[in-house]
Amino acid sequence: MNKIFRAAKEIFIGAPTAFDLPKPLIGRDRVERKYSVQRKILDTILKNKRISFEKYMSMALYSRNHGDYDAGYYTSGEALIGEACHFNTFPQSNSPVFGQGIAKQLNSMWEALGCPKVFHAIEMGAGNGIMARDILRYVNKEMPDFYKALKYVIIEISNPLIQRQKNSIDPMLRASVEWKNASAIKYKFKHKITGCFLSNELVDNLPVHELFGYKNEAYETYITYNGFTIEKEPVKLSSRKVIDMLKTRFSTFPVPEKIPFYVSTASIDWLKNLADNLKRGYILTIDYGTSDMTKYFYEHDTLRTYSRLVTPSHKNDPLYYIGKADITADVDFGSLVIYGRKFGLRKVGYFNQDYYFSQILSTPLIKSEMESGPYGMRVLIQAKKARLKLG
Ligand SMILES: C[S@@+](CC[C@H](N)C(=O)[O-])C[C@H]1O[C@@H](n2cnc3c(N)ncnc32)[C@H](O)[C@@H]1O
Repeated sequence: MNKIFRAAKEIFIGAPTAFDLPKPLIGRDRVERKYSVQRKILDTILKNKRISFEKYMSMALYSRNHGDYDAGYYTSGEALIGEACHFNTFPQSNSPVFGQGIAKQLNSMWEALGCPKVFHAIEMGAGNGIMARDILRYVNKEMPDFYKALKYVIIEISNPLIQRQKNSIDPMLRASVEWKNASAIKYKFKHKITGCFLSNELVDNLPVHELFGYKNEAYETYITYNGFTIEKEPVKLSSRKVIDMLKTRFSTFPVPEKIPFYVSTASIDWLKNLADNLKRGYILTIDYGTSDMTKYFYEHDTLRTYSRLVTPSHKNDPLYYIGKADITADVDFGSLVIYGRKFGLRKVGYFNQDYYFSQILSTPLIKSEMESGPYGMRVLIQAKKARLKLG
């Protein structure tokens, strides 16, 4: 462990455990075939000496099958979503009412746009496809005029999950859905769309930079290999993109000391891509996080891992179970609003998920244990060249 991390560790007493834990065995000849996304990461580190934590997270979750290498946690289909799986999500635990509420919201967006002949609902990262199924069933049954205008598109980075989504959606409704096996950060539509970009628990899965402050300097975590195992290495923060984002978003710079702090430049690239693709309409983002990360990250681990394999002692250490565990970071909604304005978007509303669903549904959500306090599930609606009356 080098000097800065040793010093940082002293500061981190009582804080996240990532620096205390033994590291996974990832030595070249110890990596088994079935864990070969580890080998891909290792080979990339050996080639480049080190990779940023952001690159590491991206490879662990989204590497594609390539040559001898296996794919990442999502792209391999390892991600099991549901009760007694790696993790569950609200559209599934509250099916069908969650999707029905979103269907009502999409219908009112369509009306607010003047009932155009074609309204695109573009869901990004659809998991098992349960929300898409519930939306389509409800619109088909209850809103025949809107159903005629609705074009449902799913942008999904994982091929195995696309297969699961196809199996979830009734064959009659499936025929009207179009899938794009692509990243929502980059996907470009041939023609700009009128409608709504929609996501539930997508943004928390976009890769993040890990930063921390030490003696008034900002450092970024890189991942290196010590001949036996991978480990974290602090490198003076030099990424222009990250520095610009910190300056735009937070008044405190360099980053605060004591606890790792996560910055998602990928979420800004994602938002810019949506704003560029949207002619007129909305971006509806549902996720966990907060509007003021500067206070929140002192109180909570804002990066977490989920897997059936993860034992309590390795919980929330992203260097374990590579390709076998989810890595997720709370969403900084404040930055989505600030950058949204730069990209021509207007904030229409920002709500607690509970409050939001009680407004659009007559029944509240059944399971909503993450609702209380200054953090939890949030709904952000942004608009481009469109008005929307809520409630
Ligand atoms: C935590 S799951 C949420 C699934 C679903 N929305 C739900 O709430 O049950 C994240 C989903 O986003 C997908 N995903 C992650 N990054 C993506 C990207 N850049 N573009 C498109 N899909 C992505 C994953 O494959 C997965 O389907």
